[in-house]
Amino acid sequence: MSRPELRLVLAISLDGRLAAAEGGAAQIGGAGDRQVLEEALAWADAVLLGAQTLRLHGSTCLIHRPELLRQRSAAGLAPQPLAIVVSRSGVVPPELPFFQQPLERGLLLLEPPPGLHRLHQPLERGLRLDPAPPRPAASGFGRRWCCCVWSEALAQLAAAGLERLVVLGGASLAASLLAENWLDELQLTLCPRLLGGPHSWLGADARLDLASQNGWRLVEQRPLLGEELLVRYRRV
Ligand SMILES: NC(=O)c1ccc[n+]([C@@H]2O[C@H](COP(=O)([O-])OP(=O)(O)OC[C@H]3O[C@@H](n4cnc5c(N)ncnc54)[C@H](OP(=O)(O)O)[C@@H]3O)[C@@H](O)[C@H]2O)c1
Repeated sequence: MSRPELRLVLAISLDGRLAAAEGGAAQIGGAGDRQVLEEALAWADAVLLGAQTLRLHGSTCLIHRPELLRQRSAAGLAPQPLAIVVSRSGVVPPELPFFQQPLERGLLLLEPPPGLHRLHQPLERGLRLDPAPPRPAASGFGRRWCCCVWSEALAQLAAAGLERLVVLGGASLAASLLAENWLDELQLTLCPRLLGGPHSWLGADARLDLASQNGWRLVEQRPLLGEELLVRYRRV
C-alpha cells in the first residue's frame, strides 16, 4: 500500500513536556525552534494537526522565511502546505483565525465503526461502544476525508498526491499514530526549560506496540539559537 512519509515535529521541554502544567495553548519553542519548524513545513506537502491543538491555538504555523517560500515556489509547490485537521467530532469552530489564514484547509474525520473503538482509540478516557452521534458539518474546508482507520486515511492522502506529511501534534494525535507505528521520523526541539505536570509529549495512557518497534536512528543533531537543540530520529 502506498502511504505518505510522516514526520512528527514537536518542541519539548527538557523533561519531555509539550505544554505547561496548566495546559492551554503552549508556546514552548523559541527562535531556534521556529527556524527548524519552518524548514520542516517547507519540506511538507501537508501538515496534520490535532483538532484540540487548533481549538486551543486558533491558528496553525506558517512559513514566513522568504528563501523557504522561494524554494517552494521553484519546486512548483503552494507557499504553505495543506493544513489537515484530524478530528473525530468534526467540531472546528468557524470563527477561528485559522479560517482566515492564507493556506488550503482539509478535514480528516477518523471515526472507527461502532464496536471498534476499543481497538482504535487507545487514548479515550471513557471508552465508548455506542454508535457515534451524527457529526455537525464543519465548514471552511476545501478538502475532506472520512475514514475508519489510519491505514485507510493514509492511503487516501497518498492517492491525493500527498507524499510528505508533518505531524504538528498534539500528544493525542502523536500517540494515535505511534500506537500503530505510522511515524517514520521524530523531529524534536529540546528547549532549555523544565515544566513538570502531566503534559508529556507521549501521554501516560499512550498504548505502544513495543514488540514491533526496532528503535530509532539519529540522523541529525543541531544546536539552535537560545540553547535549543534539534534532534531528528528515523525509524530503524
Ligand atoms: N510543544 C509543541 O510542539 C506542541 C505541538 C502541538 C500541540 N501542543 C500542545 O498540545 C496540547 C494539545 O494536545 P492534545 O493531546 O490535548 O490534543 P491534540 O492531539 O492536538 O488533539 C486531540 C484531538 O484531535 C483529534 N484526534 C486525535 N487523534 C485522533 C484520531 N486517531 N482519530 C480521530 N481524531 C483524532 C480528536 O479531535 P476531536 O476532539 O475533534 O474529535 C482529539 O480530541 C496543547 O496544550 C497544545 O498547545 C504542543
